[in-house]
Amino acid sequence: MNNIQQRKKSNTFVTYENQYFYNINRRQTSSWLPKDFTERTLTKAIKKNIDRKRPSIDEVTLINGVPLFSWIELNVNELCNRRCIFCPRSGDYPNQNLHMDLELVDSIASQLVEVGFDGTINISGTGEALLTKQLVDLVKKFGDRELGIEIVTNGDKLTSSLIKNLYCSGLTQLVVSMYEGQEQIEYFNNLFTECGIDKKLYTLRDRWYDEDKDYGLLYTNRTGALGGELPDSEKRACYYPYYAIYIDWNGDILLCCQDSYNRTIILGNAYTKSLWDIWTSQKYFEYRKILKDGNRCKAPCSNCNANGMVFGANHAESW
Ligand SMILES: C[S@@+](CC[C@H](N)C(=O)[O-])C[C@H]1O[C@@H](n2cnc3c(N)ncnc32)[C@H](O)[C@@H]1O
Ligand code: SF4
Ligand code: SF4
Repeated sequence: MNNIQQRKKSNTFVTYENQYFYNINRRQTSSWLPKDFTERTLTKAIKKNIDRKRPSIDEVTLINGVPLFSWIELNVNELCNRRCIFCPRSGDYPNQNLHMDLELVDSIASQLVEVGFDGTINISGTGEALLTKQLVDLVKKFGDRELGIEIVTNGDKLTSSLIKNLYCSGLTQLVVSMYEGQEQIEYFNNLFTECGIDKKLYTLRDRWYDEDKDYGLLYTNRTGALGGELPDSEKRACYYPYYAIYIDWNGDILLCCQDSYNRTIILGNAYTKSLWDIWTSQKYFEYRKILKDGNRCKAPCSNCNANGMVFGANHAESW
């Protein structure tokens, strides 16, 4: 009997609600700000999005004593219509017509139901989700199972009919990165209003700033995919592998979203192993063990400048 079945049988769900509220109150914005992020680059939109995501991400569910991931990111294709300067696509990252199979999506969705996943499925990855073949059908695989699903998009291909179809298929949040300018706020608000979508169901992020404002992002070097090497590796904990799982278009499970362009470490493949078996594998655990203490000695962490402490402190404590 595998672990998933064991959990189902014993029905041992434990949520650490008290611990969760304790940590929320304790952790003020400043406590996760690393030395090189300041209020200058932390926009209101970034803070708002963090606050929106925190309740779902930082709630810990244990399966037979093991914390389950609460955030699952899918890279559903390898295409984009832009080449933003702060993204590895501004360099020689290839634009390829490759897509995640619906069969794999169906398997992921049913495994999530089986483990009692109560977090968020995030479609973001290395490209532009709205260029995905069968995107509406893909969202429906999760929507039909009442799983929370959100899409991060540059918004270029959004139309009224696509918006309506996505929400009808079960989409719970659309996050739009606005790269053009302030005028996009009114444009997108009108578009969503026209479709009858409540403000709580979409997020507009201002990302039209220059380099001196870090482009409106919590800018990271994408484990070196943006070129160059860090003079010294960071000495700071990272909680990504404690709460998040990243699935590439071909089923590969990567260490984290920061390594999604370089793909340095592949922890398993969802076609050949269950998500739970990969999540609880020794290889994954080796990273968790050292990252908790701020040791980023192993690749790709050794060349990663990401702040890995925005979310996941509760999970790290529970592992
Ligand atoms: C890679 S994009 C994929 C989704 C979509 N194409 C978009 O741009 O919104 C996901 C998110 O990463 C952000 N992003 C891109 N490059 C980044 C970087 N170097 N550091 C931090 N965030 C970055 C984008 O602004 C976007 O919000
Ligand atoms: S940030 Fe998003 S829109 Fe811009 S090039 Fe990268 S994937 Fe495309
Ligand atoms: S240190 Fe960087 S590469 Fe390593 S797990 Fe954290 S975010 Fe990913």
